[in-house]
Amino acid sequence: MEAKLKKLLSQAKEEVKEIKDSQLLSDLKNKYLGRKGDLAVLLKDIKNVATEERPVIGQIANEVKKELTHIFDKLEHSINNDGSSDLDFDPTMPGLRRELGHLHPNTQVQAEIEKAFAQMGFTVFDGPELESEYYNFTALNIPEDHPARDTQDTFWLEDNNVLRTHTSNLQVRMLEKYGAPFRGIFPGRAFRNESTDASHDHTFYQLEGLLVDKNINIGHLIAVMKSLLSAVFQAEVTVRLRPGFFPFVEPGFEMDIKCLVCDGLGCPVCKQSGWVELMPCGMVHPKVLENGGVNPQEYSGFAFGLGLTRLVMMKYKINDIRLLQSGDLRFLRQF
Ligand code: FA5
Repeated sequence: MEAKLKKLLSQAKEEVKEIKDSQLLSDLKNKYLGRKGDLAVLLKDIKNVATEERPVIGQIANEVKKELTHIFDKLEHSINNDGSSDLDFDPTMPGLRRELGHLHPNTQVQAEIEKAFAQMGFTVFDGPELESEYYNFTALNIPEDHPARDTQDTFWLEDNNVLRTHTSNLQVRMLEKYGAPFRGIFPGRAFRNESTDASHDHTFYQLEGLLVDKNINIGHLIAVMKSLLSAVFQAEVTVRLRPGFFPFVEPGFEMDIKCLVCDGLGCPVCKQSGWVELMPCGMVHPKVLENGGVNPQEYSGFAFGLGLTRLVMMKYKINDIRLLQSGDLRFLRQF
């Protein structure tokens, strides 16, 4: 049996040399590896082999199959790539063009927003994702036991640090470092210890904005938000502003966008409401300015925390947030 298997392999190796096109290759593959091919027929006789020898024969048969598959695949690859087999390989042929990747949709939208903000004099900053309780909560006027901590389900680390629950962790860090006046945006990942659904992920992108200067008011905030939305959508979108509570802004607002996945009719993304929470914002609380070493008598400012991943969903009408970080190329190739 062993000799027969080896003979089959060497016979196949001889025959493959004559193959120049994919039809002949497919026939040859069938002849050797097909369901009723030579290898399958040969292996039917394994029942006549002594029981103790069967594992050895089985292993040899596997190796023969593996080698044949490899030979056929290699030939198939070279036939498909340049129309000829390895046997008449032409080294002067131009190389194969490699498929180029592209930016993730999240990165594309982030770049558009960064460009729009750069034109308004904002600088882009980065900061830690692993954060102290102080910068994530306390410095933002959210003391321990404040109910606002419960609204952001937190991944706590054993040393009492957290995976930042929002990009607002950079507000006080930036004011401490650069003082006022200040104009910056901080795009980055945020983490929430919550169960996922069509519009919630445990890891998602936010883009924080902070502007502190003399005589800043809500009119400035609204103007900047409008510029941001028109930069991303290049068209009118319907938004609504409603009061919102965040201890680090006063007054605070929630900006919702009319769901673009269902055009406001109701779907799992907007939880059938027709609206998607997109961008909480407000005037920076005097306590936060103080914590950053800025005098609230002299300066005022606004801040917003754009749900960047949600914005990407709206822009491209993506009906499940989890697709964005699935790594599924069938999804990503569409952008
Ligand atoms: C905050 O995170 C505040 N830091 C925002 C803020 C900044 C308010 C500055 C005032 C001033 P909130 O928890 O609502 O707020 O999250 C902000 C946005 O992030 C939401 O509107 C939503 O678009 C997005 N978001 C929140 N949780 C998730 C999640 N689990 N998955 C995807 N996006 C989320």
